[in-house]
Amino acid sequence: MQGAPRPMKVFVTRRIPQEGIRVLSNAGAFEVSVWESDEPVPRAELLKGVAGVDGMLCLLTDRIDTEVLNAAGAELKVISTMSVGFDHLAIEEIKKRGIRVGYTPDVLTDATAELTVALLLATARRLLEGVQEVKSGGWSSWKPLWMCGYGLNGSTVGIIGLGRIGMAIARRLKPFGVNKLLYTGRAPKPQAVEVEGEYVILDKLLSESDFVVVACSLTPETQGLCDKAFFAKMKRTAVFVNTSRGALVNQEDLYEALSSGQIAAAGLDVTTPEPLPTDHPLLTLKNCVVLPHIGSATYSTRGTMAELAATNLLAGLTGKAMPSELAL
Ligand code: NDP
Ligand code: DGY
Repeated sequence: MQGAPRPMKVFVTRRIPQEGIRVLSNAGAFEVSVWESDEPVPRAELLKGVAGVDGMLCLLTDRIDTEVLNAAGAELKVISTMSVGFDHLAIEEIKKRGIRVGYTPDVLTDATAELTVALLLATARRLLEGVQEVKSGGWSSWKPLWMCGYGLNGSTVGIIGLGRIGMAIARRLKPFGVNKLLYTGRAPKPQAVEVEGEYVILDKLLSESDFVVVACSLTPETQGLCDKAFFAKMKRTAVFVNTSRGALVNQEDLYEALSSGQIAAAGLDVTTPEPLPTDHPLLTLKNCVVLPHIGSATYSTRGTMAELAATNLLAGLTGKAMPSELAL
């Protein structure tokens, strides 16, 4: 006689928002174990936690490579990441093992685009420097050229990667009076018509744009894309913004470009590593604004991401269509 089938085991690599926990708790027949911390699970605990699981819900801070997949073992059927980016997953190896992957596109697009606009404006209009001057007594009087920066009205904006977030950034920037919107990528995008976007090669985008915004995914092809040669092609008055992934940027080259006046300023929501060490040279520059990877950080967005990640996981484990499954 056969016993009842064992409950499926799930490992959640972090304390996630309640919306996600609720989905998992209501699911019933799953044995859910959660790394109950706001900090990333240490590697050794991750390897222990995934042993024998059917599914895992992970974050972009967890490197899911062959070692983790081996530690999990043959039962692993679904990996659900609470992120749209999936560069932390060893996709080829995952594919080989027939594991399904869930992710969280769309639900964070608006929040990330909004943050990108905020970062662009804060960088171009020198908001952090200004606040610092007020606090430190550097504000002596209204002066004609003091604290001047660069405005969007009449400008040319170049977006690298006109995907979901790239488009949402374009839609938000256009009403600021942007004169020309250029974009580059692997192929022209029909949806660019909506924002009157012109598809150009990277070199043209760099030499003509007043604002260069990186919104593409991190792939072997885009890794290190923003290097010395890249910055050398930009205008000396141009502002660089990256809310994609830190590894797209060669940070030594960016430091050089910013400190030598090769480009005007940079706003980064993502860096390598994360967190950026507090003694990193980029943090010594007034014309560099660095945020702690908060593109999607609104309460409602993070709640929705957690809910979607949990729903993806359970759907995958029960053999159903996931609301957002990554096509492998
Ligand atoms: P999409 O897949 O919709 O967009 C990615 C875009 O990158 C696509 O248009 C893609 O083009 C383009 N791309 C790929 N390769 C290249 C290349 N070689 N040159 C130029 N463009 C390229 O993803 P999302 O817009 O939803 O997200 C984009 C990225 O933003 C995520 O991968 C993630 O890394 C980052 N992100 C960061 C956040 C933050 O908190 N700072 C929050 C959310 C996302 P194609 O369509 O041709 O493949
Ligand atoms: C993602 O989802 O890829 C972001 O970097 C965090 O929301």
